[in-house]
Amino acid sequence: MSKGKSNEPLIVVKGLQKAYRTPAGDFYALKGIDLEIWPGEFVALLGRSGAGKSTLINMLTGIDRPTAGEIWIGGQAIHRMSEGKLTRWRGREVGVVFQSFQLMPMLTCAQNVMLPMDFANRYGTPRRQYARARELLAAVDIAMHADKLPAAVSGGQRQRVAIARALANDPTFLAADEPTGNLDSRTAEAVFSVFQQLVAAGKTIFMATHDRDLAARVSRVLHIEDGLIVEDTRPASPAEGYELVAQMEA
Ligand SMILES: Nc1ncnc2c1ncn2[C@@H]1O[C@H](COP(=O)(O)OP(=O)(O)OP(=O)(O)O)[C@@H](O)[C@H]1O
Ligand SMILES: [Mg+2]
Repeated sequence: MSKGKSNEPLIVVKGLQKAYRTPAGDFYALKGIDLEIWPGEFVALLGRSGAGKSTLINMLTGIDRPTAGEIWIGGQAIHRMSEGKLTRWRGREVGVVFQSFQLMPMLTCAQNVMLPMDFANRYGTPRRQYARARELLAAVDIAMHADKLPAAVSGGQRQRVAIARALANDPTFLAADEPTGNLDSRTAEAVFSVFQQLVAAGKTIFMATHDRDLAARVSRVLHIEDGLIVEDTRPASPAEGYELVAQMEA
C-alpha cells in the first residue's frame, strides 16, 4: 500500500457482487458495485438496515470473499489473495472496527489492542506495545479501563477498545462498521474527532453509519440500497452534507 501514489485511487472496486447461500437459494447482498476511493478520503456509507453496508466492508477488508468482481487496494488484487497473505496484509495495512466489536474475551482491553501489533511483529517489546496500547486507549478516553476484561466494561467502552485496536498498527486504511452506533453523542464526537485527525494525517476512512450528523461532515457520502450504490456525492460544506444526508435517509 505504501506504493500508492495520491494521483491514483487507493481502492478500486469493479463489478463487485456478493451472494450468500441460503436455504431458499443464493441471495445477492451486493449486486454490482463500482467504486474508486482516493487516498485521504473520509467516506460515509449510508443505507437502511440490510442494504449491504457490513457486506461491503467485509469485502473491502478481505474478511469475506466476493462472488464476482474485483477489489484492488494499493495496487494489490485483494480478490485473488490467498487466505494467509490476506491475513498478513490486513494485519499490516488495514484497521477494522467491526459492528459487533469482536474483542477477545480472555484478554484485557490493552491486550486486545496489543494483539495486532504482536501479530505484525511491530512496536517492539511487550512493554512498548503496552505503552502504545495505552496511548491509543487514551485517545478514545478509556485508558483507565486498560487492564480490565471486555466483559467488565460497558458496550460503548468496548466499542472504543475496538477502535483503539483498529488503530494499533497505524493503518493506511480504516474501515469502520457503525463505529459510533453504541456511543452517546459526546463520545461519538470524540471518536469522530480522532477519525478527523487520522484523515488530516493522510489516512483513508470508510465508515458505515446511521448517524446523520457525523455523515454530513465527511468528505464523501455514499448511499447503498439493496446492494447497489445509488448515490455518491462530495458535499461542499457540512450544511450541504446535512441536506444530502437528510434526503438520502428520507
Ligand atoms: N451470512 C449471511 N447469510 C445470508 N444472508 C446474509 C448474511 N449476512 C448478511 N446477509 C443478508 O445480506 C443483506 C445485507 O446485510 P448486511 O449485514 O450487509 O446489511 P447492513 O447494511 O450492514 O445492515 P445493518 O444496518 O442492519 O447492519 C441483508 O439482507 C442480510 O440479511
Ligand atoms: Mg451492518
